[in-house]
Amino acid sequence: MKFFIDTANVDEIRTVHSWGVLSGVTTNPSLVAKSGREFTDVLKEICDIAEGVESVSAEVLSDDAEGMLKEAEPLVNISDKITVKVPMTTEGLKAVHGFAKQGIRTNVTLIFSANQALMAARAGASYVSPFLGRLDDISHDGVELIGQISRIFDLHAIDTEIIAASVRHPLHVIQAAESGAHIATLPYKVLGQLVKHPLTDQGIEKFKQDWEQANNG
Ligand code: E4P
Repeated sequence: MKFFIDTANVDEIRTVHSWGVLSGVTTNPSLVAKSGREFTDVLKEICDIAEGVESVSAEVLSDDAEGMLKEAEPLVNISDKITVKVPMTTEGLKAVHGFAKQGIRTNVTLIFSANQALMAARAGASYVSPFLGRLDDISHDGVELIGQISRIFDLHAIDTEIIAASVRHPLHVIQAAESGAHIATLPYKVLGQLVKHPLTDQGIEKFKQDWEQANNG
C-alpha cells in the first residue's frame, strides 16, 4: 500500500516528502479553504515540492459534467501530476468518461458503497476514494467497504486503484492495507503517528546511555 498525504498545507507536504515515503497528495475544497491560499497557486507549489510523486488530486466543484471538464482545464495545465477529483454523481461519471478519453486521470471522491466504486471504475476512473472515517461516524463499517471493493475489483480484473480516504487513526491504516487498499491518503498527524513506538524511543535512549557509560566512564 502506498501513502498519499491528505492536505493543502505545503509545509506538511515538504516534511513528509523528505521522509521518502510519499507517493501522492490529495486535496479537497475544505483543505484548500483552510490553507487560506489561491487554489492554483497552492497546486503549483505542491507539484513543485512533490518531485517524483505520481498524483496530486485537485477537486472540481461544478454540478454538471460540462462545468467539471471546463473547470479542470487550468488545473491539468499546471502539471501532468494533476489528477482531477470528481464527486460521485451521474454528472461526475460523465465527466470521468470525458477525462478518460483525453487521457486525464481522475479520482472519484465521496464513495460510500461498492456499487458507487464499480460505477466509477467502469466510467474510467483511475482512483476511487471510499471514506472510512465518515462511514464509521454513522456506525457503518468503512474497513469492510474497502475489502468489498477490493474483492470486486480483483474478481473482475479492474485496475482502478482504491484510495482509503477519511482515515482517522493508525489502526485504520493497518486495516486498509489488510483489506486491499492500494493507497491510503492520510492527514499529516496520522503519518507521523505511524512512525512512533515508545519501545523505539526507549531503545534509542538506552543505546545512547550504554555507549556513553562505556566510553566516558
Ligand atoms: C480524501 O480525498 C478526502 O480529502 C479526505 O480523506 C476526507 O477526510 P475527512 O472525512 O477527514 O474530511
